Parts: sequence; C-alpha cells; structure tokens
Amino acid sequence: MADLFDFAKESPPRGEGKNKSKRHEARPLSETAPSPEITTLEEAAKRVAWLRSEIERHNHLYYVEARPEITDREYDLLVQELAELESRFPELRVPESPTQRVGERPTGAFQQVVHEVPMLSISNAYSQGELREFDARIKKLLGTNEDIEYVVELKIDGVAVTLMYENGTLAYAATRGDGVRGEIVTANVLTVRDVPHHLDQKGVNLPRRLEVRGEVYMEKADFERVNAEIIASGGEGFANPRNLTAGTLKLLDPSIAARRPLRMFHYAVGVCDGPLPSTHAEVLRWLSSLGFHVNPHWTLCRSIEDVIEKTVEWESKRDSLPYGTDGLVVKVNRRDWWERLGTTAKSPRYMIAYKFSAEQAVTRLIDIQCQVGRTGAVTPVAILEPVFLAGSTISRATLHNADEIARLDVRIGDQVVIEKAGDIIPKVVRVLTSLRTGKERRFEFPTTCPECGAPLVRSQYEVAIRCVNASCPGQLRERILHYASRDAMDIEGLGEVLVNQLVEKKLVADLADLYHLTVEQLSGLERMGKKSASNVVREIEESKGRPLHNFVYALGIRYVGAATAKLLCQRFPDLQAMERASKEELASIEGIGDVVAESIYQFFRSERNLALLEKLEQAGVRPQNTLWRTGQEVQQGEGPFVGKTFVLTGALSSMTRDEARRQIELRGGKVTESVSSKTSFVVVGAEPGSKLEKARKLGIPIVGEQEFLRMLEQSKP
Ligand code: IVH
Repeated sequence: MADLFDFAKESPPRGEGKNKSKRHEARPLSETAPSPEITTLEEAAKRVAWLRSEIERHNHLYYVEARPEITDREYDLLVQELAELESRFPELRVPESPTQRVGERPTGAFQQVVHEVPMLSISNAYSQGELREFDARIKKLLGTNEDIEYVVELKIDGVAVTLMYENGTLAYAATRGDGVRGEIVTANVLTVRDVPHHLDQKGVNLPRRLEVRGEVYMEKADFERVNAEIIASGGEGFANPRNLTAGTLKLLDPSIAARRPLRMFHYAVGVCDGPLPSTHAEVLRWLSSLGFHVNPHWTLCRSIEDVIEKTVEWESKRDSLPYGTDGLVVKVNRRDWWERLGTTAKSPRYMIAYKFSAEQAVTRLIDIQCQVGRTGAVTPVAILEPVFLAGSTISRATLHNADEIARLDVRIGDQVVIEKAGDIIPKVVRVLTSLRTGKERRFEFPTTCPECGAPLVRSQYEVAIRCVNASCPGQLRERILHYASRDAMDIEGLGEVLVNQLVEKKLVADLADLYHLTVEQLSGLERMGKKSASNVVREIEESKGRPLHNFVYALGIRYVGAATAKLLCQRFPDLQAMERASKEELASIEGIGDVVAESIYQFFRSERNLALLEKLEQAGVRPQNTLWRTGQEVQQGEGPFVGKTFVLTGALSSMTRDEARRQIELRGGKVTESVSSKTSFVVVGAEPGSKLEKARKLGIPIVGEQEFLRMLEQSKP
C-alpha cells in the first residue's frame, strides 16, 4: 500500500511547463478550459508529450494492471486537454496519439483476436446539461426537432467481454483489449454462470455467426467473501469487485476461476450474420429470448427529459443493487439512426454514459501520518475513523502534501468529507468546519524524516518535502518495491511484507544486494516457505535479462516514468551512451523537457549511482535494448518508408505482426491501428477484419502478403 501513497513520484515539478495537473488530484470541473497559458509550439510540444505519456500510463494501469489511479473524469480531462492542444497545434497531431485510440494493448499472456467489429468506448456526461447537449447534437445531426427515444441501461461496473457464437455454440470469448485486439479468455468465461454455452434455438432462426457483448462482474457480497478467502490464504486482496473480476478473467488456471462466482449482463451485438431487430429495445428482448442475461432495469424513455428523470432516480437507488454500477448508458433506440450518426475513432455518437457523482462519506480524522516515498518525498496521509464507502472500508486517505493541508485547513479531530470515485485512492475533499468543537489540533509538518530521522528539505521549486538521506531505509524499501514492480523488473513475490523484512533485517542495503539473496536466507523469514523462497530467488535471477527500458525505469530516476525510459532506449543503444549524453542532447529528445533532462544527467553524475550500476552489472544484470534501432530510425526520419503510414489487418503467414511492424519501422514508416484517409497502405493477411472494408471505402491501396514482402525486399534498410 505504501507505494500507492507516494504521490510526488513522477509528475514533473512545478515550473516545468505550465498548468501541470497532479496525478491523484481531481481538478474542479470548472477548470475544464485546458492549457490556457500555453502559447508557443514549444510549450505545447512539451505538454503534449507529457499528457501522452501520462495517458498511456493510466491506460496501462486501467486495462492491463486493472488498478486505475485516477477517476474516469480526471482521465477524460487529460484526454480533453490533449485533444484541445492537438487541435490548436495541428503540427503536433500524430495518428498514434491516445486521442486516436481507445485503450491499451493486451498483455501478451493469452492468444489474441482482432475484433471484427471494434469494441469502442463510450463518451461520458457528468451532468444533466451534458446530457441535453448530447440530445441537441443528435437532433442536429439527424436534422430533426422531434423528441428522440432513448434506451437507458445501468452501466455495470465490470469488465467488457465479447462472446462469439458459431452455429449456436460458443466459439470463443475475448476481452476488449485495446478495442481492436482482445485476448481470448474462453476457458475462464465458460465458468461464468450467465454465459450460455449453446443458444436456445426453439423457434428462432439463429444467425450462423453471432457475437454478443456484455459486462462480466461480481456481486458485492461475493466479492467480500472471495476476497477474504484470497487474503486468508496469503494472497493479495483486490481493491474492488471490478479488479477481482479482471484478475479472474486473466487467470491461467480456469479451475480457480470456477471457484469465483462471476456473472454477466449482456447488452450489445457485434458481428451478426442475419438481420437484427430495428430498435435497441427489441434487440435486448431478442437477446433475452436467446437465453442471454439482460439486466432487467433498462427502460425506454420518450425524450431526454425522461432520461434525466432516470438519472435522478438511480443516483439514490444505485446503492441498493447487489452489484456495482457507476452510471447509466443512454442509447438512441432506433438502430437505423445508429448508422446515420456513426462513430468517432473512439466512441459511437449514438450513445453516452452518464456517470454518477463521486461517492462521499463523512468521518473523523484521527491523525496525520507521514510516509516516505522512493524519491524521499514525504507524503502526509490522513488516518480516519473507518467508514464504509463505495464498496470498501476506508481508514486512510491522501492529503498529498503540506500545501494541501494548508489549503484544506484540516486539523486533527476534524470531521471531514472523503471521496472515492471509481476505485482510486480516497481523498479528503473538505472539512466540516461548522462541526468543530475547539479541541482540534493543527498538524505540524515534521522537520525530520519519520523513517530515519534525517532533516527534511523543501526546495523552492516543488511542493514536496524530502528526506535527502541516501541511506534512508524507508526510501530503500520503496525503491526496491518500485524496482520489482510490473513495468519495471517485474519480480513476482517481492512484495511489501518480504521487502519490509529484507530492509529491517539488513539483508539488502541496495538494489544489487537482491541478486545475492539465497533460498536459505529467505526461507527463514515470515510467510516464507522453502518453495516461495526458491520461487522468489528464481524470479530475481530471471529479471537479469529484462529489456533495457524496464531496467531504466526500474532505477527510479526522478521524473523518468516507463514512457520516458522507452524514449531514452530508442535514442541510445545502451546505458553507457545515456551516461555520456549531455544535458542538451537529452533535452533534444522529443518528449523530454529540461528538468527531466537535468535529472537524468545528474543521475549519471552521482558516484553512488554509478557504483550501484557497476554492482548490478557485476551481479549479472544484463538488460538488452530492444527498442534502439527502430526508435532511432524513426526519430531521425530516415528510410524508404518515411512519411508512410501502414495499417496491418489479418494474419501474415511469413511473420508475426510485431515483426511486420518492426520491418516497417526499420524503414522509417509508421504503423497505426485504424484506417483513415491518412493511411498509405493497408497490409492484408488471412482473415482480415473490418479494416479491409474501411480501406476499400476510403480507396486506400491494399497490399497482400506477397506484395508486402516485395516492398520490404526492395527497400531494405
Ligand atoms: S454499451 C461502444 N452498455 O462501459 C461500447 N456498455 O465506459 C458499447 N458498460 O466498454 C457498450 N454497462 O464495458 C454498454 N449497459 C451497458 C454497459 C456498458 C457497462 C461498459 C462497457 C464499455 C464501458 C464504457
């Protein structure tokens, strides 16, 4: 948990660029006018690069790790700001920008499938006003003043899954993935009790291929029980039912999934070989008749005002449901209008998700404690009288930093309003000053580190207050946890309980010491049998060969997140080259600003860091740069494919898709996911998806596998 509260970790400091939003802090809704101070292209480029890497990181947290750190609203604000900057500065637009894509790539552990009908996301509305704007847009696009009929459904807080039936039998089930490509998780989905294995054909003319989509979820009570069992058997619990659902769908052993009672509501059709009813309401009834489990709370509304009434009704009723819902989905009822309204790159224009307001609770703040992060930043955390909020009991909430405590004027003993939207870390939003008794105490920010007692330092450039003692055990613990985390060296089993003991018992004094741990040393520790000890030692050993960008990120250089680490590895062949780089050279990399460049430069000027790198190398850590050649060539704009954008669809027999991408990038070309008028070629393999259709419509040159191989041959790098 400690890591979750280390807020100052990666966001660039004040002063670098303008209008930086803090990662864990929702901005007030009135602040939606984005980046007003940015006037020059240079400022915009920096901000755009930062926004893209933040959005990518949050995509990864959301889609791959299933542990989002920010609310949907905060995420939307980041994307909105990026979209706004891209429209003000068109030269910064690129096809692979997150504004042009839906989500994050799949994890790689499962076989993948290209969704023939992409699984888009839905744009959000947060107020009645935004719902009316949506209605006005629809009317304008359709050229009508008549009331529009909408179907209103609950937005189930689960994980989207698509089911493909062939001749009435489930052929496969897949996750949404990045919306274009998902992962096949059939074995686990077969354990979900609402998923028909065969369709009921009584009196129905079944389409030969029928794809039905919906949300897999877990009921709240089941979540509490299963989670308690997981924790009791020594596992790490999940923050909420959605994360547990996502984790269960990605289990490699379906017999474990079978013991976790997942459920599914069905709400949409993807591929369908036969005719479909003409309204969405009828589609829902038809799905029910085929044996699918449609959530019973959907209603047909005659106008947007009826829809708004429903939002008011559900705001208060939603807590009484046995499963989580985070809003309502409002869908135009007439399906012929769906075609007329169409979709944007990310979401259909004929539906919108109305998000319920963040759930709040009132409780007493008992204490404020300070935690040290891996960079030494000291973060104050509110210790609360436990209170149940949005599916879990809350006893801690973030206060971010000393400035935030001053801004809230929060005192020990205060009654405070806490908020938790989605499943992010709860935060204190307001103090109920009228309830003060006079006994509340102001909090004095410590002057020494709560872990090691060294004096704390506040620099003039940032809000964070830091412990600058390089041997602080608190920082070491966080550094190791970061080094072992998934995007870094991905060392499974090196969790909080173990790392605490390693640091306390002085078994490690730096990262390199991890590589000298033995099974004997570990098996003596709490919660460590011989088997888990040898698993951890094996995992540590395996981490020696992780890619260089993981290693660079793992080192915990300030402001160097996973995205910046990749940029460095695209530009420099190895660590030595990074070390030799001047500040100017570092800052000349698109996406790296002066402050970040300075931080990287200084990292390699520290004797202590150089000694650590040396020690890691001697321990056998040999990261390989898997990004260099491709990155460098693209960046320098060389090669016969420069300026050409490729889209790949279907399976190639002579190479994997990654290899095809690499070959294109080696020649200076770009590969994007979706076909647009800017696409130069669509490369088509076996069983192509809807991209082929789209390419035909737009008249984009279509290249078969043989022709593609010829192009590669004739343009060798
Ligand atoms: S319709 C274009 N209906 O919400 C996507 N989605 O935030 C069509 N969701 O990805 C989906 N309940 O996973 C639809 N009644 C409902 C839903 C629903 C939950 C999820 C779905 C979607 C996400 C978008």
